[in-house]
Amino acid sequence: MAQNNSGTDTSKAPKLPKTSPAEGARIAHAVAVISGKGGVGKSFTSSYLAVALARKGYKVGILDADITGPSIPYAFHVCGPTYGENGLINPVLSKTGIQIMSSNLLLDNPEDPIVWRGAMISTLIEQFYAEVKWDVDYLIIDLAPGTGDISLTVFQKIKLSSAVLVTSPQSLVSMVVEKSAKMAEMLSVPLLSLVENMAYVKCPDCGKKIEIYGHTDTEIGRRHGIPVFDQIPFDASIASAMDTGSIEDLEVPYLDATVHAIIQQSIEQDNN
Ligand SMILES: Nc1ncnc2c1ncn2[C@@H]1O[C@H](COP(=O)(O)OP(=O)(O)OP(=O)(O)O)[C@@H](O)[C@H]1O
Ligand SMILES: [Mg+2]
Repeated sequence: MAQNNSGTDTSKAPKLPKTSPAEGARIAHAVAVISGKGGVGKSFTSSYLAVALARKGYKVGILDADITGPSIPYAFHVCGPTYGENGLINPVLSKTGIQIMSSNLLLDNPEDPIVWRGAMISTLIEQFYAEVKWDVDYLIIDLAPGTGDISLTVFQKIKLSSAVLVTSPQSLVSMVVEKSAKMAEMLSVPLLSLVENMAYVKCPDCGKKIEIYGHTDTEIGRRHGIPVFDQIPFDASIASAMDTGSIEDLEVPYLDATVHAIIQQSIEQDNN
């Protein structure tokens, strides 16, 4: 029986044929942003990774795989509905040219809810990968929380170069990291970076770091084989940029190590 370090039977990992991008579309590297639970900052992380990669001159897209709770169009202040051509959907372009696809961009009224069963949601995510006219060096995939249906579709059906795990700094984090690391290993996706969001607050007067949730174990990711660790503090400019749709105007250093690792890893993959 094939086992990983922690004794999981990896031979049971379901392997399905990968979906291909549409003819004429190009997706060089897909990176999934995942988390164990909601509200920890996946959409911010996805948005900012895209912005930072685009600033370095790469062509970037964001696939908003959070079908029932899409927030990417708000962060970039883009709206639909977008249209199709020759059987392919055009992504919507942000003001700096980031290509975006989200369920909200298909609706006439972005306030309309999408009340769908899991299977339909999974199908739509596959279509967002395979039937959108992407032309990207990096496609960032912003996932819904958890390891349910939707995450599984992305992990099984989309060829991912890597995944980034976003957590908040609470005591359950060790379990979340372990679960996600196992899932990534079972599905053969390299978990490249652990991002701890809302890790601390910086005193606006004296600059002192206040660790509201206590001191973080910065080695926790590495112990589970995740090579990169980034920390994001509570930062009012992040909340404001996400809320006002001006994420492309925000400049913060917090995800530098993750961005660097994504680029390095894709260069290594391309050379092999
Ligand atoms: N470091 C931060 N400092 C301040 N506000 C933040 C920070 N990170 C995220 N936020 C804010 O917290 C809220 C939740 O963040 P975000 O939408 O990125 O989380 P999420 O994991 O995608 O949530 P969901 O699971 O609902 O999709 C947003 O309003 C966002 O602007
Ligand atoms: Mg989100």
